[in-house]
Amino acid sequence: MKQFELTKEYLFSYDVNTFNFADLVHEILLDDFEGSRVLLDQVHTLNKSSHVLTFDSDQNLYFHNKYYNSPKLPRLLNVYREFIKTVIAPQFVDNQLVVQAKPTFRIQLPSNTAIPSDIGGDPMRPGLHCDADYNHPDVEFNFWVPFTQCLPNNTLHLESKPGKRDFRPMVLVNGQVLRFWGARCRHHNKMNEQGPTRISFDFRVMNKSDWDSVSPLWAEQRTTVQRSIKLTLGSYYMLYDKETQQFSQHETVDRVPMVVKESSSFAISFS
Ligand SMILES: [Fe+2]
Repeated sequence: MKQFELTKEYLFSYDVNTFNFADLVHEILLDDFEGSRVLLDQVHTLNKSSHVLTFDSDQNLYFHNKYYNSPKLPRLLNVYREFIKTVIAPQFVDNQLVVQAKPTFRIQLPSNTAIPSDIGGDPMRPGLHCDADYNHPDVEFNFWVPFTQCLPNNTLHLESKPGKRDFRPMVLVNGQVLRFWGARCRHHNKMNEQGPTRISFDFRVMNKSDWDSVSPLWAEQRTTVQRSIKLTLGSYYMLYDKETQQFSQHETVDRVPMVVKESSSFAISFS
């Protein structure tokens, strides 16, 4: 692993006017007349059908479908790529980075979790896992981006080092980002007993040279656990080149901007 400092948690802020994710997510989720005045952390008041997330029923609540099927999603993904260029890429030393093609949308409604509640084997820590448990390479780093106020019962709980078990609630606000070594540091949810709703997205990035060191093990073999999306460039990941400032779904970076085809298939990875 080239940059060992990446294994340490890093909390930072970004300009919410330039990268207006919360506004865009609000438009996507609540563009119907019924919800236009509802705040993101109050979407549960719309009383859409819901169930407690499990391994077999993750990422398929009403609001997941609303997000991934929205015609407005490409606007958000354009902002996401600008965010990668401007805010995320400078944190990595390589000129080329391997980046999750589409961030994973999370919603934690009251009396629910944002990741499958039935994994991890610890009823006090619903969803306990590290991403390496689910085929992610350990040279990969997570970025967690909430759009609502986080509280201890509706947020991510994270250990500071692999195996340390000093789980702490990550209490962030809109405009903050947490970088953490999710491949190895375990994380979980609590049951969101009282609300409000938490909405966030997360994505994963690594230096291309680190990816090259492990990619033979992943090529065509490793997939996301639930929907079997290949953890390869062109499927789960895209390539970013700092010099050309271009993204590509292939090993080489095209000189023309990548055309993004909309699909819900990228959206699979535990937080
Ligand atoms: Fe995770």
